[in-house]
Amino acid sequence: MTERTFSIIKPDATRRNLTGKVNAVIEDAGLRIVAQKRIQMSRAQAEKFYEIHSERPFFGELVEFMTSAPVVVQVLEGESAVTKYREVMGATNPAQAAEGTIRKLYAESVGENSVHGSDSLENAKLEIAQFFSDDEIVG
Ligand code: CMP
Repeated sequence: MTERTFSIIKPDATRRNLTGKVNAVIEDAGLRIVAQKRIQMSRAQAEKFYEIHSERPFFGELVEFMTSAPVVVQVLEGESAVTKYREVMGATNPAQAAEGTIRKLYAESVGENSVHGSDSLENAKLEIAQFFSDDEIVG
């Protein structure tokens, strides 16, 4: 089934000028970038986005990191896009990520791991709606 998922190219990757390289891995995997914008996330946006992790010990560090430089937010479309993009990203911890995945190629640590991707179709819809209006997504 054709799905849409939400992606963020994180500050560690934008800082190293890796947006194009990350996008090449995404497109080579057959996912289409149907919306994309570079933004400076506000503290409020980051806290809302990662609300589910608010009790975790790394929450403060995570919000600090996500607001430390611009990010690129994206909507990706394709067959089974949610699970496909999770495969393309690789494991959260780059030390455990498979060869050829974005995190194996580019991520620096479990915290500074270059990309985010939605973990379910339901969350993908909520996350997309947090950053994009319908008319910004052109499939
Ligand atoms: P992401 O997929 O964006 O969702 C939650 C994020 O929390 C995760 O990627 C990591 O960047 C971050 N994270 C997870 N575990 C840790 C950790 N142990 N220390 C710091 N950050 C973490």
